[in-house]
Amino acid sequence: MDLAQSQKSHQIVNFSVASLLFLGFLYVFVCNEANVNYLILPTPFQKPQFLASSSKSHAATFNMKPYEKDELEEALAETSTQNKTVIIAMVNKAYVVLGDKPMLDIFLDGFWLGENTRNLVDHLLIVAADQTSYDRCKYLRLHCYKLKTDGVDFVGEKLYMSEDFINMMWRRTLFLTNVLKHGYNFIFTDTDVLWLRNPFPNLIQNQSIDIQISVDSFIGHPWSERRQPINTGFYMINSNNKTIALFDSWYAQKNQSKGLKEQDVLVNLMRQGLFRRLGIRARFLDTLYFSGFCQDSRDVKVVSTVHANCCRSISAKVTDLTSVIHDWKRFLANQTVPFRWSPHRGCMDSWRHR
Ligand SMILES: *[C@@H]1O[C@H](CO)[C@@H](O)[C@H](O)[C@H]1NC(C)=O
Ligand SMILES: *[C@@H]1O[C@H](CO)[C@@H](O)[C@H](O)[C@H]1NC(C)=O
Ligand SMILES: *[C@@H]1O[C@H](CO)[C@@H](O)[C@H](O)[C@H]1NC(C)=O
Ligand SMILES: *[C@@H]1O[C@H](CO)[C@@H](O)[C@H](O)[C@H]1NC(C)=O
Ligand SMILES: *[C@@H]1O[C@H](CO)[C@@H](O)[C@H](O)[C@H]1NC(C)=O
Repeated sequence: MDLAQSQKSHQIVNFSVASLLFLGFLYVFVCNEANVNYLILPTPFQKPQFLASSSKSHAATFNMKPYEKDELEEALAETSTQNKTVIIAMVNKAYVVLGDKPMLDIFLDGFWLGENTRNLVDHLLIVAADQTSYDRCKYLRLHCYKLKTDGVDFVGEKLYMSEDFINMMWRRTLFLTNVLKHGYNFIFTDTDVLWLRNPFPNLIQNQSIDIQISVDSFIGHPWSERRQPINTGFYMINSNNKTIALFDSWYAQKNQSKGLKEQDVLVNLMRQGLFRRLGIRARFLDTLYFSGFCQDSRDVKVVSTVHANCCRSISAKVTDLTSVIHDWKRFLANQTVPFRWSPHRGCMDSWRHR
């Protein structure tokens, strides 16, 4: 008997078992003898549940997948847009527990308060570096992926440029390389970026543009690499051979770059002409749309994202992003009142008190 036939006859047996159940206990006992699997028989009232579980196990045998999907593929597939694009943010424990209102909550508030941003959360994948942040992510009913970190502790707050901070950033680069290798485009966003408007209209949707990356301050010339103060806290990247090669080359620098953070390493590679050698087409994003504390957008009426860059600690970022939320609400309440961003005092002070 081949597999399909045996499955079929098995189903017939199941079906007859089901019919017999309707007839009463006497028949049930007959079936019990016929098949040990049915020894733990439910009462007739629980029958639907019993049938459901048996048909489910059959569905599983019939729908054998041609290949084994890995966990990352599953997370990406369920999160991505039709264009195979995901929004990726990475958190650790510090981002979900620190302070009265942790960073992840403020980040999510941005999507809630922003214009046309609520639906984007459907395409947001939270990458958790430890169990606590993973648990928090699941609790918030988001798309979550637990990073595997072979015994490294990424739990606490990583002060800017500490060794742990640098290691965590490298781990991030490795993970994102893996996402590209799975064939997914993504927007990477730090969680200290508020999404106040849907950024997609301000990003060019063209596969021939490999990477569109934010800068600390915009010096004009969106297509020229020269002296661009890039910031890896927000960028969109398309998955292709060139970008995969870029990320591989970037990560390969890890051991030769002691004391440098991955962002500086990317800047160095760019200055050494790696983008040109790989044929990478890069666009540098105007702070008018992709704003930050280093250089505020001149126009709240068009701004998409606000990044708490130029800031050293999480608590300072939380304080100053909360002010941004207040500014935004003030703007929404009355858009004819002249608008000014609140000063980023917490972040300015964060550099003084070491
Ligand atoms: C997805 O692709 C369609 C066309 O293929 C385009 O209109 C749309 O803007 C894209 N959406 C995103 C989020 O990239
Ligand atoms: C994408 O960019 C390329 C090169 O600039 C151009 O030839 C092409 O028409 C663009 N495609 C779309 C859909 O805009
Ligand atoms: C990379 O290039 C190879 C051939 O050179 C091609 O088969 C493959 O699909 C490309 N992969 C991507 C991600 O573009
Ligand atoms: C860096 O060094 C470690 C330990 O020597 C090694 O296991 C790892 O493969 C190296 N990584 C890279 C990207 O070269
Ligand atoms: C908005 O502010 C302007 C100027 O202060 C004021 O004249 C107007 O009444 C306000 N509108 C609302 C809806 O509060």
